[in-house]
Amino acid sequence: MTQSQTFPLCNKFPKVSIIGAGNVGKTLAQKVIESNLADACLLDIVEGLPQGIALDLTQATGLEFHHRSIVGTNDYKDTVNSDVVVITAGIARKPGMTRNDLLKINAKIVTEAAQKCLVYSPNALYLVITNPLDVMTYLVWKTTNLPANKVVGMAGVLDSTRLQAFIAMELGVSFNDVQSMVLGGHGDLMLPLPRYCTISGIPITELMDTETIERLVQRTRDGGAEIVKLLKTGSAYYAPASSAFHMIESVLLNQSRLLPAAVYLQGEYGLKDIYLGVPCRLGCGGVEQIVEINLTDEERKILHNSARSVRDNIDLALEQLGMKH
Ligand code: APR
Repeated sequence: MTQSQTFPLCNKFPKVSIIGAGNVGKTLAQKVIESNLADACLLDIVEGLPQGIALDLTQATGLEFHHRSIVGTNDYKDTVNSDVVVITAGIARKPGMTRNDLLKINAKIVTEAAQKCLVYSPNALYLVITNPLDVMTYLVWKTTNLPANKVVGMAGVLDSTRLQAFIAMELGVSFNDVQSMVLGGHGDLMLPLPRYCTISGIPITELMDTETIERLVQRTRDGGAEIVKLLKTGSAYYAPASSAFHMIESVLLNQSRLLPAAVYLQGEYGLKDIYLGVPCRLGCGGVEQIVEINLTDEERKILHNSARSVRDNIDLALEQLGMKH
């Protein structure tokens, strides 16, 4: 059996721990092991759930012909020596629950999970998926005291892949030929950037009229809600898991891919002390570079609006957690 020659962080085979064995967590775990990228540890608060999923996936090993292992657990000790920790744990909003209630509950779940993982994997990259994404990513960074380049949020890749899909479907071109870029917070105030979307290098503004582009942009903004409405219970998980996988691959294989992700801004784009989706390079060092691209006045206004909304929720969450800002 051959082992990856490209993994730069250590000599052992890489390990990815996934906290939360729900739809996103278990789909990601399957991708991680079946692609031979890394061994996986799947942890959940529900007893039996991660163990059952791990056993089920293990029984498929011979058929899928991979050679990576997966452990299901309720014990954080099993996450020891992870290279990447992914946090998907949380709850979805239930009837009668306000957004603030959800913020408070998920803030507690996510920060406790991160702190427990930190004990066993202080050098890992922490990838946050739980919503509200930008706020949760900030809280993980703040409560772990990790360097900012070691904490990143998954949203821009997902939003961009949704826009990419809508463009490809509209024009009937290969998905692989479409490049798209969505910045800002993961929510209604995200900033899709049609000017930076191309098909094999041709700006989409050459191939579609403004009305069509606006329609696709709006569908991207509503991308998550459209799937929630169709599924009726639960939210999207295949594209979120693929997006996270893409980011993990860039780190573990040191690909230094340029991807939009929620990263800590310290003056870039005129924003400070906030996690927000902007283009960055992801490699074995985590977030290796934040890339500043030119924005029009209107685009900058949208980005700053999005940042204000994220900032308000960060402040609220810090207050709810009893943490001084
Ligand atoms: N510790 C560990 N696991 C927890 C905890 C906790 N304290 N609290 C909840 N969980 C687990 C749940 O038991 C559940 O298995 O987190 C899992 C969440 O799974 P789902 O409800 O299926 O949610 P999923 O669709 O996977 O989405 C996860 O990603 O895209 C975002 O908005 C989405 O925040 C959500 C997250």
